[in-house]
Amino acid sequence: MPYASFDRSVKIAPSILSADFANFGAECRAVESQGAPWVHVDVMDGHFVPNLTFGPATVKALRPHIKGVMDVHLMIAPVDAYLPAFAEAGADVISAHFEAGPHIHRTLQAIRGLGKKAGLCLNPGTGIDCVPHLLDTLDLINVMGVNPGFGGQKFIRSQLQKIRDLREMIGDRDIHIQIDGGVAPDTIAEIAAAGADVFVAGSAVFSGGSVDKPEVYGENIRKLVAAAAG
Ligand code: DX5
Ligand code: ZN
Repeated sequence: MPYASFDRSVKIAPSILSADFANFGAECRAVESQGAPWVHVDVMDGHFVPNLTFGPATVKALRPHIKGVMDVHLMIAPVDAYLPAFAEAGADVISAHFEAGPHIHRTLQAIRGLGKKAGLCLNPGTGIDCVPHLLDTLDLINVMGVNPGFGGQKFIRSQLQKIRDLREMIGDRDIHIQIDGGVAPDTIAEIAAAGADVFVAGSAVFSGGSVDKPEVYGENIRKLVAAAAG
């Protein structure tokens, strides 16, 4: 079911950036059937990040293939004009980057105003000074573990302290900490210990599998969950 209630358990969110782009529907069904509660959908504009993926029409086409949470990560600047289209496409969570416009508070309010969970994305070089001022407009903070644009990059370890600091700032508020980029069996334990609860994983989930071999996705997901427990 789409986003239902808040909890801080470990949730693996496969990023379809590492899926077969000619087979998105089947790929989403495959990772869900193998235990993924969220599916992470990366939208890139070729301007804010040096890569292009797809827009709201594709996201809308994916919706019927995702029974769980559809988590849409917008790497678009300026982003505000596109928010209604992604809401209409059926996103449950919409996340925008701190740098995606001049008024991040307004952007987050607009996402909530569209009836969606609002996420703030922080690039590896972006600080957290803004967060205390945004806590009342936030449902998720996406800490980028790599510079956005591509899958399969190495985790930037300085983000661990950022996660610890955010976890403290959030206290008992219902705000997810998501880590996006570089999540793998050898990095996830430290990231989980730092305080993240949603783990986006592209290459670590999709490598070695396919829609004809979905059990590999399942093994990859279980490996991550087990490693997260430390
Ligand atoms: C990067 C994207 C990520 C990416 C992660 O810009 O936002 O979601 O797919 O890929 P991995 O898990 O391979 O680092
Ligand atoms: Zn992402």
